[in-house]
Amino acid sequence: MIDPWSSSIVDYEKLKEQFGIKPFADLIDEIKNPHPLMSRGIIFGHRDYKRIVHAIKEGNSYSVVTGMMPSGKMHIGHKMIVDQLIWYQKNGAEIFIPIADMESYSARGIDFETSRELAIYEYITNYIALGLNFENKDLHIYLQSENKMVVDLAYKLARKVNLSEMKAIYGFLTSTNLAHLYVPLIQVADILHPQLEECGGPKPTVVPVGPDQDPHIRLTRDIAERFKSQFNFITPSSTYHRFITGLIGGKMSSSKPKTAIFLSDTPEVAAKKIKTAKTGGRESLDEQRERGGVPEDCVVYETLLYHLIPSDNKLKELYHECVEGTIMCGECKQKASEMMRDFFQVLSKKREKAKYMAERILSKD
Ligand code: TRP
Ligand code: SF4
Repeated sequence: MIDPWSSSIVDYEKLKEQFGIKPFADLIDEIKNPHPLMSRGIIFGHRDYKRIVHAIKEGNSYSVVTGMMPSGKMHIGHKMIVDQLIWYQKNGAEIFIPIADMESYSARGIDFETSRELAIYEYITNYIALGLNFENKDLHIYLQSENKMVVDLAYKLARKVNLSEMKAIYGFLTSTNLAHLYVPLIQVADILHPQLEECGGPKPTVVPVGPDQDPHIRLTRDIAERFKSQFNFITPSSTYHRFITGLIGGKMSSSKPKTAIFLSDTPEVAAKKIKTAKTGGRESLDEQRERGGVPEDCVVYETLLYHLIPSDNKLKELYHECVEGTIMCGECKQKASEMMRDFFQVLSKKREKAKYMAERILSKD
């Protein structure tokens, strides 16, 4: 059972076997100019993504839905979703970004006003600073609690879901509060509402998420089937990306500051933090020269792979230097740290400006 509200490390292989998530690699050749997260295997799995490949190829309309739950500070792992949204924006998608304030309230006890503030000064600010264009008319962002279309749809869909099904998917205990029990239906409505007549009718939809969100995806797909005759829904597709490893190994988590590089860190702090990361280096320099490092077990390498080296050739070069033992971790960390500083210098400047735009996006009038 996957618990979307307290997911620990996942076994990606098992996910494919047990839940029928398909390897993304099988489709990659059909995608024109795939995002590096796709070509580098960080997006590892999908459901029904062919439909999206087809829509992109044919220039047909399709939508992308992926939400943000305002619960704390964003770390660099969260950047992956924004990177994907930017790619979809370039590839003709209509984008829907629900701000999951109802989920924050029911699952984390965060009140609605706090969610709104977090959404503005943390999430939307970062999304803008990272390069997502909110002025595009095909981008829609909303607070769940303020979107009547979504809340009404959730209520209608709930008519065909019962408690034993919820228990089978989420393992809810009898002590789960009812708001928490209901909130997955809101997410289902987030994902399906772009297909309502008010939003242009049925169309392929993709939900790019981490694998912890898969229970919601399965529920959504089942419900979409059940309401096919009423709404003509096309069963939504999904993609799954690997989680970023925390600086000290394990999961990167906003609630454990030592594991995370936050998007709001200063360039100096971010540059320093990457130097504390766990590497795939050997016990001694001699051993490393002889046997080489293990980039697969290295958080520094992972950071370069996910975020800092867009050029495949440059990345390959570093990989070889590492496994051949011609670069040592000290030098490698120094390089990574400088790239990190440069990246954060640009980001922090952009964040300053983005803040004002973010305020306007969620302004109450
Ligand atoms: N549950 C998601 C999270 O924890 C947020 C979310 C809300 C979402 N609605 C969504 C994600 C729709 C994908 C699609 O981050
Ligand atoms: Fe990681 Fe670089 Fe050390 Fe290789 S040389 S293990 S990539 S820090």
